[in-house]
Amino acid sequence: MTKKTQVAIIGAGPSGLLLGQLLTKAGIDNIIVERQTAEYVLGRIRAGVLEQGTVDLIREAGAGARMDEDGLIHTGTDFSFQGEHHHLDIAKYSGGKHVVVYGQTEVTRDLMDEREKDGGVTIYKTDNVKLHDIESDKPYVTYEHNGKSLRLDCDYIAGCDGFHGVSRKSIPADKLEEYEKVYPFGWLGLMSDTPPVNDELVYCAHERGFALCSMRSLTRSRYYLQVPDTDKIEDWNEEKFWDELKRRIPPKMAERLVTGPAIEMSIAPLRSYVCETMQYGKLFLIGDSAHIVPPTGAKGLNLAASDVETAFRLFVKIYKEGRTDLIPRYQEVCLARVWKSVRFSWWMTTLLHRFPSASRFDFRVQQAEFDYFINSEAGKTNIAENYVGLSLEELE
Ligand code: APR
Ligand code: PHB
Repeated sequence: MTKKTQVAIIGAGPSGLLLGQLLTKAGIDNIIVERQTAEYVLGRIRAGVLEQGTVDLIREAGAGARMDEDGLIHTGTDFSFQGEHHHLDIAKYSGGKHVVVYGQTEVTRDLMDEREKDGGVTIYKTDNVKLHDIESDKPYVTYEHNGKSLRLDCDYIAGCDGFHGVSRKSIPADKLEEYEKVYPFGWLGLMSDTPPVNDELVYCAHERGFALCSMRSLTRSRYYLQVPDTDKIEDWNEEKFWDELKRRIPPKMAERLVTGPAIEMSIAPLRSYVCETMQYGKLFLIGDSAHIVPPTGAKGLNLAASDVETAFRLFVKIYKEGRTDLIPRYQEVCLARVWKSVRFSWWMTTLLHRFPSASRFDFRVQQAEFDYFINSEAGKTNIAENYVGLSLEELE
């Protein structure tokens, strides 16, 4: 059986769902093809700091009501170096901007609900998704669903299928321009239904390794510890996690930290990756399928959203004004922002983590860099304006 749509979207993560909803609201037909079930997609725990541009786009997609109700507005963020606590007034140093703390899982759920209300089509539990003739005027997607082989004809394909997806792999290898950096450590995350230790996020550099105190709500905390990339989840338990966290955060916070059972515990590797070939023929790569950043700058979801914004504005220009001449602008616009976020995420990671290869000299330089940035107006402005998100170029 063959279906037909204007934009075929591969992947129902935040990128695919956000693009799908924006297109639907603009009257552009789209179908999402997703490998997993909706429950599986919602079971993935990811970051939760939204820049203003991401918040605006979620509202434009019609999925902002619960975020506006439950999201926590953060006008500052905290840092600690060897237990010494520093507050950074993000609003003051970014011209009055703020970020919104609202979990990616909730964003995804709100987008799924809105899509259902609009009668949007998402085909879950698909197998063997393949992209065909992406260089031609008649690209199509084939997949298996409920034991049947199916075909989806379309004008364009949006590759929103994450780092391990099939879309990027459909571009000929000799056309891919890729850059990668793998860090020699990972983040061990723990989620618990305990009140957050601080009313703002706390990024902690310590000689034992980095730690982050984050949250999902006023009753749910999310904490992370830097761990060697050789560590396995079996090497850790809740008690060991809480003990280690207390050693890395400011002593006053360690005293008031409320511990409790873990709802989730997992280790994620840290990597920077950029595929500069973000568009090839009729295929557009969007979000994690094109780039990965280490989570230290809280940029993953925000970068995905800014790709979605660019792709969406482009599709509107194509379908409403026939502006196919703007297609090459997609990756130019995206990459300008991607590389700046890649730089910021790499810089925050380098500033705050303990590298196994670092010498005593390196540690002193790291300490001096932290001192400089956190005590200088220019330094604080630099962190704040990147943290709230840099602006996006216009398509034309
Ligand atoms: N066929 C169909 N769907 C696929 C395939 C495939 N071959 N491969 C992957 N997918 C689906 C995944 O199951 C997932 O639901 O694509 C979706 C990709 O979602 P994400 O990995 O969440 O990527 P993206 O939507 O770009 O989200 C970016 O999520 O990964 C975080 O840090 C990242 O916050 C950022 C955001
Ligand atoms: C999170 O809450 O999961 C989180 C917050 C900020 C980060 C990374 C992760 O920089």
